[in-house]
Amino acid sequence: MSAKPFLKWAGGKSHLIKQYVALLPQELFEGKIEIYVEPFIGSGALYFYLSQRFNFKKVYLYDVNKELILAYSVIKNNVEKLIEVLHKYTKDYRLLDDAHKSTYYYCIREKFNTELKTIDFTTYSTDWIIRTAELIFLNKTCYNGLFRVNKKGVFNVPFGRYKNPTIFDAENLEKTSTQLKKANIEACDFKMCKSHIDKKTLVYLDPPYRPISNTANFTSYSHVKFNDNEQKRLAKFYTNMNKTGAKLMLSNSDPRTHNPNDNFFDDLYKEFNIHRVYASRIISCDASKRGTITELLITNY
Ligand SMILES: C[S@@+](CC[C@H](N)C(=O)[O-])C[C@H]1O[C@@H](n2cnc3c(N)ncnc32)[C@H](O)[C@@H]1O
Repeated sequence: MSAKPFLKWAGGKSHLIKQYVALLPQELFEGKIEIYVEPFIGSGALYFYLSQRFNFKKVYLYDVNKELILAYSVIKNNVEKLIEVLHKYTKDYRLLDDAHKSTYYYCIREKFNTELKTIDFTTYSTDWIIRTAELIFLNKTCYNGLFRVNKKGVFNVPFGRYKNPTIFDAENLEKTSTQLKKANIEACDFKMCKSHIDKKTLVYLDPPYRPISNTANFTSYSHVKFNDNEQKRLAKFYTNMNKTGAKLMLSNSDPRTHNPNDNFFDDLYKEFNIHRVYASRIISCDASKRGTITELLITNY
């Protein structure tokens, strides 16, 4: 079994990998790609898929979400201790009846939010291990498995009421740790990856999707919003990276799904190749809006 994402993450790409594989650059299969860069790593579905099939010499994984990067660092550096803490949380949780499970969830959520005021995101410490265990626990027991914060950065998702959620998979965490050993992992804006890119690089960019309708707007991975100006800043960055000769792949929503005349991305990326892939909409509180739609994969090759 291969390593797979250890978190449920809005916009996770596990379900699209087969379609993406068909659109990967030929140079990857010819062994000409040495560096892999993913500046919006999220739960890392494509990275974990590729890292077990291709031998990259260098890997750079970034995300602006500090909680997420803290968790990646812990899994990379101290997975055994993390598994120990997760075993304890899981055991305590499983012994409780439904009402007390909910209380336990809100206690952990309260602790996680209170400690936000004191946690030092810059210096690795044992506090990071506990925080990562809490993040994984909350992610697997909260409603819809989301990481969503309010304007103050407070995690505000209610309890999920799942019967027997799988909170973690120790073997998968160990495999994930192995796959992260060679990765440089950093909490920063996407533009910081520029210095590592050359013609032997594959860059996969999966920014927060542009909402395709006013009601489908899950964009709160952090307290900073990714609006149309951010999408334009990213398109400019993509155009600049193109000059390095790197192979670039970028995902986004397809505005034409809802409005055939909305050419937002077709205009922004008109110099490049715009592929349409089929996807199921996963995050929508309205069950009637979960269906098949197209999404974009924009390549420069
Ligand atoms: C669509 S998700 C990525 C999903 C990922 N491909 C997966 O399989 O789970 C977008 C990610 O971009 C991150 N993000 C938002 N703004 C960013 C920025 N300015 N720079 C870097 N990352 C950012 C979010 O925290 C989020 O994790």
